[in-house]
Amino acid sequence: MNFDKALFEFAAGRPDQLPESTVPEIVFSGRSNVGKSSLINKLVNRKSLARVSAKPGKTGTINFYNLQACRLVDLPGYGYARVSQSEKLRWSELVEGYFGAQRNVGLVIQIIDMRHSPSANDLDMIEYLINSGTRFLIAATKSDKLNKTERGNQLRLFQEMFRRAEGLKLVPFSSVNGEGVEEIRNMISEICDHS
Ligand code: GTP
Ligand code: MG
Repeated sequence: MNFDKALFEFAAGRPDQLPESTVPEIVFSGRSNVGKSSLINKLVNRKSLARVSAKPGKTGTINFYNLQACRLVDLPGYGYARVSQSEKLRWSELVEGYFGAQRNVGLVIQIIDMRHSPSANDLDMIEYLINSGTRFLIAATKSDKLNKTERGNQLRLFQEMFRRAEGLKLVPFSSVNGEGVEEIRNMISEICDHS
């Protein structure tokens, strides 16, 4: 599978704008500013296919990218405090609209900042993924910012917190040094090449 072939397809700001679900979708989810867009760019070898924001909370739409037999889906980040209440409501309706629409979700890549404990929203999302039987992995990003001890401690903490998710893949990731990129690409290829 050629990861250089990603193309921007569509941005949806409202549930009724979601494009028809035709091919398996690889969904990127996480709190605002966690590094979703950076992770997507790293996977597809691009500097700015997905917009990386200096200010958090900038991706307010669900952005769709075509990638060969698949589609990449960049969800708006949740949990950013300085977004108005009405924007937050719009985003949650959008994301709930997405997951409620019986789409062909091949894999959710749930992104967590490796330096911090998961937020209540992160835990809600993971709970939803486990209960709905959605295939997912956790990318623990910004791994470049931790030393070896901190890293070991965080990975153990995450393993413990998410032990209910049987066989969960927990991938340390860095869009700075490329750690974890191949592992995630392999997962995506497995799903997209055999669909
Ligand atoms: P929103 O769309 O605004 O919710 O943010 P996002 O989740 O798409 O995050 P984005 O990719 O825009 O990155 C947010 C900030 O984190 C930027 O300043 C990035 O340069 C930085 N960043 C992202 N990934 C990494 C990483 O792996 N390591 C380090 N050190 N910084 C990162
Ligand atoms: Mg973004």
